[in-house]
Amino acid sequence: MNTILKVFFIISILITFTARSQTPSPQMQYNDACAHCHTPGLGGAPRLGSAKDWSARIRPGLNLLYQSALYGVPNTTMSAKGGYKELSDINVRAIVDFILSASQITPLQLAAAVRYDTLGIKDREFIYLDANFDGVLNKQELGRDSMLTDKLSRFDQNFDGVISFKEYQTLTIELEGDRTNANVTDLTISNEIHLILQSMPLLKGQAIKIDVQAGRVIITGMVNTAQDILSVQRALRWVSGIKQIDNRLVSGALLAWD
Ligand code: HEC
Repeated sequence: MNTILKVFFIISILITFTARSQTPSPQMQYNDACAHCHTPGLGGAPRLGSAKDWSARIRPGLNLLYQSALYGVPNTTMSAKGGYKELSDINVRAIVDFILSASQITPLQLAAAVRYDTLGIKDREFIYLDANFDGVLNKQELGRDSMLTDKLSRFDQNFDGVISFKEYQTLTIELEGDRTNANVTDLTISNEIHLILQSMPLLKGQAIKIDVQAGRVIITGMVNTAQDILSVQRALRWVSGIKQIDNRLVSGALLAWD
């Protein structure tokens, strides 16, 4: 080998070596750890490049989105770090940022998402109720949860006509206390739950099993979407006597693997 060739050879080895020792880009890590679900949208996974899918997901704030990526989403195939535990927390956040930039989230949507982060609001139920993103609940927004509707005047401690996040926390802690301390038999709880579930059109034809023991409710069965799992959880939120809900429902979308 002549000298020039030798030099080229050494340089090419060096280039290969440095390229290998560099940390992979968020996009490469996405390809390895997330793409098999998020590119086709497997099992209801929000799809890469879909502004529609991701704008709905960032609504509760970026912090909660990172949290889902880091710790998983209960009752779905989204496990902590997508199952790739070896990824560092920083890597996972960078992958989420890559996904968002690839999905053309508008600056306006990003600003709305960051707002909850700035306000320090991480409660998904509060965010769900706050339809106009303004960080407080007015009478109309409280109306989405019939139990909270009548409570506005009682819990609006500063009489400004809306429930702030702080007031909401006081309110829900008190209502949860009332619910847990109520002296109700398991049979009554079970009957009440069945009545509520029967009245939910989205559960028509779904076999759902309820087991109540000392106020602890275990729900098993299958519903159509991950959203339905949340709807069931919401519907049962204020059933008197319930001490804890163990929601083991799975969504049928999980089985759509083909
Ligand atoms: C086995 C399939 C699978 C893999 C692998 C996977 N995900 Fe997911 N992911 C899902 C599903 C399904 C959902 C929707 C869950 C739901 O219904 O809320 C989801 C939701 C998410 C969400 C939105 C959560 C929210 O709060 O709305 C983020 C962020 C996310 N995944 C990030 C990742 C990242 C980052 C990776 C790779 C490190 C990854 N996922 C790997 C299946 C997967």
